[in-house]
Amino acid sequence: MDMFVIQGPTRLSGTVVINGAKNAVLPLMAAALLARGKNVIENVPRLRDVHTMIQLLEILGARVTFDKHVLTIDTTRLKRLEAPYDLVRTMRASIYVLGPLVAAHRRARVSMPGGCAWGPRPIDLHLMALERLGAKLALDRGYINATARRLKGAEIVFPISSVGATGQTLMACVLAKGITTIKNAALEPEITELAEALVSAGAKIEGIGQTTMRIEGVEEIEPLKYRVMPDRIEAGTFAAAAAATGGKVRIDKCNPSHLESVLHALRACGAKIQTGRDNVYVEGPERVDPVHVVTREYPGFPTDMQAQIIAVLCRARGTSTVKDTIYPDRFTHIPELRRLGANIRLDGNIAVITGVKMLKGAPVMATDIRASSALIISGLMARGRTEIRRVYHIDRGYEAIEKRLRKLGASIRRVSE
Ligand code: UD1
Repeated sequence: MDMFVIQGPTRLSGTVVINGAKNAVLPLMAAALLARGKNVIENVPRLRDVHTMIQLLEILGARVTFDKHVLTIDTTRLKRLEAPYDLVRTMRASIYVLGPLVAAHRRARVSMPGGCAWGPRPIDLHLMALERLGAKLALDRGYINATARRLKGAEIVFPISSVGATGQTLMACVLAKGITTIKNAALEPEITELAEALVSAGAKIEGIGQTTMRIEGVEEIEPLKYRVMPDRIEAGTFAAAAAATGGKVRIDKCNPSHLESVLHALRACGAKIQTGRDNVYVEGPERVDPVHVVTREYPGFPTDMQAQIIAVLCRARGTSTVKDTIYPDRFTHIPELRRLGANIRLDGNIAVITGVKMLKGAPVMATDIRASSALIISGLMARGRTEIRRVYHIDRGYEAIEKRLRKLGASIRRVSE
C-alpha cells in the first residue's frame, strides 16, 4: 500500500489547474445507461471512483474507453442488470445505477450500500422516490431487486434535502410517463449539472437550480455529449491549503461562484482572495484568525470541506468551532489531527479547535477522501516529517495530488510501504 511522506512546513506558491468534478461525473456515468448508444463525457478526472464506476458499467455490459480525460460509454448492448456488493461497498455512488436501469431496462438488482465512516447514510429516500414512480422493490440477501413497467410521473416530496436522492429521482423520471414534480430538490451544483446534461440529451426539465423541479417524461433520450464542470471541492481544498500554509496560489479553471461559502470562510480567517471569471487567487496570512463554521446544504458551507477547514484552523490565533449539520459523525480525522499536535475537542457534532503555534509531523492514517486531504493540509503546515497511510482514500477523489502539490513547492512523495 502506498503512503505519502511530507516534509514541512511549506508555503505553497504557484498555479494549480482544477479537474472535472467527481460528484458530477459519477451520476452522469450512471445516466449514460438511460440511452442506447455512445455517450461521450469530457473533462473526466482520473480517479479511483471513476474507475470503480467504469468497472461497474463494464459488468453491466457497457463498452467503455477512457483516454485523456474523455470517457466514452457505449450502452448499445447491456447484458447483466446487476451491481454487485463488492463494487457498491467500495463506492456508495454505485447506487446511482438503480434509477436509470429501472427506467430504461425495467429491471435491476443492486446491492444495498452499508454504513460508512460518516455514519449510517441511509438510502431510504432513493427507494421511496422510485416506489412513488411505480417501481416494485424487494430486498433479497442485501440486494434491492427492482422491477417496473414504464415508470409513471408522480409528486415526490423529500422531507430533507438529499443530493443522491434528487439525482436518482431525476434520472429515473426523465423517461417516466407524464409529469413528475420533485419538491425540496437539492440545490447542489452537481444536481444542476446532471439536469442540464439530461436536458442537452432531450429530457424536459423545468426549475433547474430551484427547490421545485418539474419533469415531463419523454419516450427516450439521446446518448450524452457533455463536458463536466470543475470540481468545487478540489478547488476549495487547494484554496484551504494555500490559506493554511501562508501561501500564494492561483487556482485556475474553477468556478468561483460555486465556492462562495468556502471563500467567505477563508476571508474571515484572514486570507486575501481575488476572484476572476474562472480563477481564484488566495494569499494566506502568517497565522489564520479563528472562525465559526456550520456546514449546510448548498449554497451553505459544504460538509465535503469540513475536514479541510478544521485543518486550516489548527494553527489559528484563538478558538474556532466547526459544526457539521449534514453528517454529524463525520469526524474520523480529528484523532489523526491530534497526533500532529492539534488541540481539538469534539462536542456532539461540533469540533472546538484551539489553535496551536505549530503542528509537529507524525505518522497518521487517512480514513476517507476529505479526511485525507485535511491530513495533507496539516502535514504541509507541520514541522518535520508526516507519513499518511491508506492514501487510496485520497486517490478516490483527487487526481495526482502529490504531483500538483510538488509543483506548488511542497515536499511530498508517494512511497510504497
Ligand atoms: C453527496 C456527495 C457527498 C456529500 C453529500 C452532501 C456524491 C457522490 N456524494 O452524498 O460527497 O458529502 O452529497 O453534500 O455526490 N439521507 C437520508 N436518506 C437518503 C439519502 C440521504 O436520510 O435516502 C441523508 C444523509 O444521511 C445525510 C443527508 O441526507 O444526512 C444528505 O445526504 P445526501 O445529500 O444524500 O448525500 P449523498 O448524495 O450520499
